[in-house]
Amino acid sequence: MNNNNTEIIPSMMITDEEIDFRQYLSSEELSVIEHEVSIMETREAAGIEALKVVQKHRGWISDNSLIAIAQCLQISSAQLEGVATFYNLIYRQKVGHYVIHLCDSISCHLTGYDEILKVIQTYLGIGYGQTTPDGEFTLLSNVCLGSCDKSPAMMINGQHYHSLTNESVVSILNGLSQNAGENV
Ligand code: FES
Repeated sequence: MNNNNTEIIPSMMITDEEIDFRQYLSSEELSVIEHEVSIMETREAAGIEALKVVQKHRGWISDNSLIAIAQCLQISSAQLEGVATFYNLIYRQKVGHYVIHLCDSISCHLTGYDEILKVIQTYLGIGYGQTTPDGEFTLLSNVCLGSCDKSPAMMINGQHYHSLTNESVVSILNGLSQNAGENV
């Protein structure tokens, strides 16, 4: 990997730009969102699931996606932004195909976090909040992942990896890198 990296820039301010959510969201996205709304007490309560489904299809939640989802739920963009900000697995900036969440809480710090971080940063040539130039990997820190008895730990695209060593991290990244060319 080279060291030219693409730094994630802060999301633009939400605007009042007119978006027709029926045009913007796909029929599949709309259908899942409406299902979630139908099983919740309020439309607002479907916010997190709505964000998740759009992120699943688009990789991240752009400002326009946020506005469209808010319109669909009949809540304000600011309300939905609050939900998105609270939930750290909703990405408000473009991320890579693989999103690495490295736990930086106490147990992991005591069992080799610093070394693991160094290995990842050296391998990928990026720091926290950055994405590799090929768009494959984004590195983010994370609070405790719940594997304290098997620390250090990280999560990549929802899959948990624990009892990490320098060697196992390189092996994991090698494996994912080999898939890189297959990702569209
Ligand atoms: S402190 Fe890292 S998994 Fe709990």
